[in-house]
Amino acid sequence: MKPTADTPLQDFNRAIVLRPLATAGESIRDGEARLLEAVGLAQALGLDVTHAEAPPLRQINPRTYLGGGRVERLKQQAQETGAGVIVIDAPLSPVQQRNLETDIGAKVVDRTGLILEIFGLRARTKEGKLQVELARQGYERSRLVRTWTHLERQRGGLGKTGGPGETQIELDRRIIADRILKLKRELEDVRRTRGLQRRARSRAGLPAVVLVGYTNAGKSTLFNRLTQAGVLAKDMLFATLDPTARQVKLPSNRAVIMSDTVGFISDLPHELVEAFRATLEAVTEADLLVHVRDIAHPETDKQKADVLGVLAQLAKDAGGITPPVLEAWNKIDLLDDATREGRLRRAEAAAEQGLAAPSPVAISAETGEGVEALLAAIDRAAFSATRVVTLTLSPDDAGRARAQIASLGKILEERSDDNGVITLRAELLVEDAARFAPLEPLPEDVRPAAE
Ligand code: GTP
Repeated sequence: MKPTADTPLQDFNRAIVLRPLATAGESIRDGEARLLEAVGLAQALGLDVTHAEAPPLRQINPRTYLGGGRVERLKQQAQETGAGVIVIDAPLSPVQQRNLETDIGAKVVDRTGLILEIFGLRARTKEGKLQVELARQGYERSRLVRTWTHLERQRGGLGKTGGPGETQIELDRRIIADRILKLKRELEDVRRTRGLQRRARSRAGLPAVVLVGYTNAGKSTLFNRLTQAGVLAKDMLFATLDPTARQVKLPSNRAVIMSDTVGFISDLPHELVEAFRATLEAVTEADLLVHVRDIAHPETDKQKADVLGVLAQLAKDAGGITPPVLEAWNKIDLLDDATREGRLRRAEAAAEQGLAAPSPVAISAETGEGVEALLAAIDRAAFSATRVVTLTLSPDDAGRARAQIASLGKILEERSDDNGVITLRAELLVEDAARFAPLEPLPEDVRPAAE
């Protein structure tokens, strides 16, 4: 059967990727990097990219975004290489997208559509699936608005008001709004349960270590190596959409709870950032972040800046809390000896100058080199991590408990009421915090399995 524009993306085999350079101030280098990323996104869907290009765009054609000559060339290239999908990394309107599909005779997707498709395929937990669906509805809604504006302008030109077009669009908007509301409610339920589960874990006194990093940096590979769990790890972007948590034993015989997170990318469409916030909530609640970096990537420093940008935004949303970050410089097996030496010296220098605290550890998640050293670094960093807790001490043992807390950590604030009950805000090591924190009763269904 010949695929049509409605055929799901993963049913196609070949694609052409185009990244028009239209943005003022965008350098060719940035454009090329974005093109490479778009190619990676298409490959993540299992598409074979037959042609990729970042051509300059002098003028936006309102009908097809691209100029007539370019559209004609794309049609030819699609026929010659058998590509059924054209990925255009540009803000296409729904009408431009449809016109391009008709003119070229292939399915056309933009960057957001592509990322949504990938997120949809990777979502594993109920929460992940709901988040993707919510993002998809938000995307549909924004496109509906644009279509509507366009129709209204047309109607204005004809001197008419109202009409069947408007009724249908109003109806579509209401249906989407209802779906969004329903999805949000479901998500709230799922999140509440997850929050309780997380609290149950933190009560166990185990520090929470979260892997973060640019997409394809090797987080899943490292997570698997550390936990021996079967999390999907392929040479695909976004292999991790849902956080998964596992206990990891450290050299000191203590344990941490480790979770993997979705990979960051530059310039994530804003409707996706919103929808994936919950996936990244674990980040601000972590006691330690392990920033997995692909140190062999030519853009490794820019990727780091992007990741730190997202982390700063998350911290701002969460009230300014940023957990300590330990950098794991991954893929050192790909470096030649000289570059490798250079990187290792840079890591040492950073450690000596106190530029990065804790100091970076060079590893290969693939071969296992350096992984023991990383575990030792996690051991040191996670157990020197502190948590601020609010504790209520009953009059009977207030004096003794207060002295103990003062000797273990730092008392930040203190209040006592008329009955002699003392309320303290104190900064304690994670394991001590868990010992002193009040034990809240948990509903039966979220109690952790016997640990
Ligand atoms: P997302 O889920 O997209 O965020 O990716 P990720 O960061 O989880 O990356 P993943 O573990 O899926 O690895 C991406 C690719 O890099 C895979 O092909 C891995 O085999 C490869 N890879 C990971 N670590 C190493 C390494 O140390 N050396 C080499 N040579 N390849 C690695």
